Amino acid sequence: MKTLTPDALAKLIARRRTFAIISHPDAGKTTLTEKLLLYGGAIHLAGSVKARRAARHATSDWMALEQQRGISVTSSVMQFEYLGYQVNLLDTPGHADFSEDTYRTLVAADSAVMLLDNRRGVEERTRQLFDVCKMRQMPIFSFVNKCDRPGGDPLQLIGDVEADLGLGIHPVTWPITTGSGFVGVADRRRKEVLMFDRGKDHGASLVQIRRIPLDDGTLADVIGSDALATLRNELDLLDAAGHPWDEEAIRAGTLSPMFFGSALTNFGVEPFLHDFLEVAPGPLPRQVEDGDDVQPTDPEFTGFVFKIQANMDPKHRDRIAFVRVCSGRFEAGMTVTLARTKKTLRLAQPQQFLARERVEIEEAFPGDVIGILDRGNLRVSDSISLKGDVVFSGIPRFAPSHFSRVVIADPLRRKHLDTGLRQLGEEGAVQVFYQDSIAGPVPIVGAVGLLQFDVLMFRLENEYGAPCRLEPLPFRHARWVRGSDEAIEQLVEGRARMRLFDAKQQSIILFEDEWALRHTLNKGEGLEFFEASP
Ligand code: G4P
Repeated sequence: MKTLTPDALAKLIARRRTFAIISHPDAGKTTLTEKLLLYGGAIHLAGSVKARRAARHATSDWMALEQQRGISVTSSVMQFEYLGYQVNLLDTPGHADFSEDTYRTLVAADSAVMLLDNRRGVEERTRQLFDVCKMRQMPIFSFVNKCDRPGGDPLQLIGDVEADLGLGIHPVTWPITTGSGFVGVADRRRKEVLMFDRGKDHGASLVQIRRIPLDDGTLADVIGSDALATLRNELDLLDAAGHPWDEEAIRAGTLSPMFFGSALTNFGVEPFLHDFLEVAPGPLPRQVEDGDDVQPTDPEFTGFVFKIQANMDPKHRDRIAFVRVCSGRFEAGMTVTLARTKKTLRLAQPQQFLARERVEIEEAFPGDVIGILDRGNLRVSDSISLKGDVVFSGIPRFAPSHFSRVVIADPLRRKHLDTGLRQLGEEGAVQVFYQDSIAGPVPIVGAVGLLQFDVLMFRLENEYGAPCRLEPLPFRHARWVRGSDEAIEQLVEGRARMRLFDAKQQSIILFEDEWALRHTLNKGEGLEFFEASP
């Protein structure tokens, strides 16, 4: 095996940035991702509007096909280089394929980019994803998109985001709008204005930037004296009343640097990417179940599985396990030990993801994600290392938003159903709970996204020979709860709530609506509530 000096390893680690974009559908995640790849040189010309439509069409056709075959929808990891940084962008499934995987992907990232639509601010999906980032105290960078078209007042937007998420915002750039629309941004750190050149190819290639110092006498000629007066007023206001720049708070996830731009026209994408890469943390230490955190610079290879993508075509039972490298150097063909079973595995054909293509790789470093072909040995949360002696703190199970009662078509197949539910629950495809009833425990499944249920039914029928029907339940929120049995029972009396047990016999309460949830949380004295499985 090739050896690396500690210095060389530390350098490779320091230049890695691993992040995910959190947003609500339609905020522009696909467009921004494409533009980041464009700037990273991973693609050369962002597709024209037409080509993009066609491509999207192809993607959705492919998704339908995958669904038909029961394969969970692919999401990938895109790797590119920019300004000497090795960037790993973890794609978070967001549309129909929104699922627990989306949350788990965040656990594999070191920071997140919160993408907001300039007219809509924080929306439901963004809030759900933000909650997971907050739970992990992850640094969050905000990008306000679609500034090429009129949006809400940016000061108002900041106030709303702060109030809504309990997160401080520090605008790093500030939009400049003149009679001809969005023309540039002010860079508050460098005290200059960046004017963007409206190219003729609708954002297909990089945008030219002209930099003018904020105190330059010609600025009024460039943006007009009215726009300049407004800009100066707003910047003064931000300096006087806004949160100051504070790197410690950014790293602790309590202050988010905010950037304004337009992914469609590329305006503001480059200044964002530049500052984001400079300030975002490199690979962070990872907590283990017992003992000191694993440092990325520890020489021995360690990693954990954060997602398993099952291929349910009965002819191809292989799956891809996505592993985040946490320390040391990974090398193709390496033999590692799975901490849970102490079994050894040879990682023969590891894959990495370059732009949208998969390539086989020879080596990987902390912060990188590798895809490993798996024949059913690995589970979500599994730790792998040379000796199998490192056990990372597990990925929590996040409270599902959809619940269904499982009704088996043929009661004689109940044993098959139980095996299927147990295995699929362990694999992380769905969460499995039981409701006590006089006739015995009734299985209830929970999911973050509805596609998980389609996949579940397909797999129960095709892999376990237990065709089922799902009866949707009206619950939308859940909290694990600890405390005396009596107090818990008292709490769920009445409507809009239900008590279930998970595989570890822990109690979880389901709520029909936000009101029932809030009301209960305020009431439950002596009880402890958890948003993720404790
Ligand atoms: P998503 O992945 O977050 O769901 O969003 P996506 O990038 O697919 O963008 C959703 C819509 O918003 C698309 O329009 C896209 O062109 C538009 N969009 C993205 N970024 C910007 C921006 O900076 N400015 C403006 N004005 N629009 C933006 P569409 O009409 O649904 O699709 P298309 O026909 O343009 O492809």
